Amino acid sequence: MNPKELLVGDFQIDMARSTQRSLPEQATGMATHFTSDDPWQDEWSEGQRQGIGGTPVRIVCHRARAPGLRLLGLATLKRLLDNHSFWAQARSRADLNRMLVGSQAVVSAWSNRQLIGFGRATSDGIYRAVLWDVVVSGDHQGQGVGRRIVEALLSRPAVAGVERVYLMTTNSAGFYQQLGFQGSETQHLLLLQRVSGRSSG
Ligand SMILES: CC(C)(COP(=O)(O)OP(=O)(O)OC[C@H]1O[C@@H](n2cnc3c(N)ncnc32)[C@H](O)[C@@H]1OP(=O)(O)O)[C@@H](O)C(=O)NCCC(=O)NCCS
Repeated sequence: MNPKELLVGDFQIDMARSTQRSLPEQATGMATHFTSDDPWQDEWSEGQRQGIGGTPVRIVCHRARAPGLRLLGLATLKRLLDNHSFWAQARSRADLNRMLVGSQAVVSAWSNRQLIGFGRATSDGIYRAVLWDVVVSGDHQGQGVGRRIVEALLSRPAVAGVERVYLMTTNSAGFYQQLGFQGSETQHLLLLQRVSGRSSG
């Protein structure tokens, strides 16, 4: 990718040509401006354009701590989780910010400048990683977006080399089995519930 290009959602901005452009409100939930020296510049490093059902979908692998998504995308991420997950509703923007900082891999999917998918992973980088909060908006489900998000997470440096990757799912085991995950007969999931919340994803 041209380092002077900045990928935001499914559109590109040539930073050599412009040092100040507005990010469409529908992509971020916030009207804002940015300049060539702000955190967006190195955020969207590995986007890949995927044509799905005729609509371009961009899978974005975020930099460590996802600075751009935290700066400009918290409202739209909150909206995606509120509307399309059952376990991650009503999370505050402040808590989502902390969540992104504490995740070693963060992937988002964009179509028509809208956030349509998300997933993240925590990892020790060598032995264990866990996938969390994989979600695709209802109108984009069944088009391969979820698969691409999980594949992108599994290929991230923090996850790619670990010995085992875990996840918890309530009703999407079949989706993950298609991607190589298997149920465990020998291990139990134990839970210490500290803060009231909904069930796992
Ligand atoms: C589960 C979810 C992430 C899958 O994303 P998606 O974009 O709809 O899935 P894809 O289109 O990439 O599907 C990939 C394959 O998995 C299959 N699949 C998708 N969801 C499935 C499910 N719940 N059970 C079994 N198979 C499933 C698809 O049929 C497809 O198979 P194919 O390649 O043979 O056609 C998405 O449906 C979603 O966000 N659901 C609501 C939130 C949720 O439950 N998330 C899981 C949290 S653990």
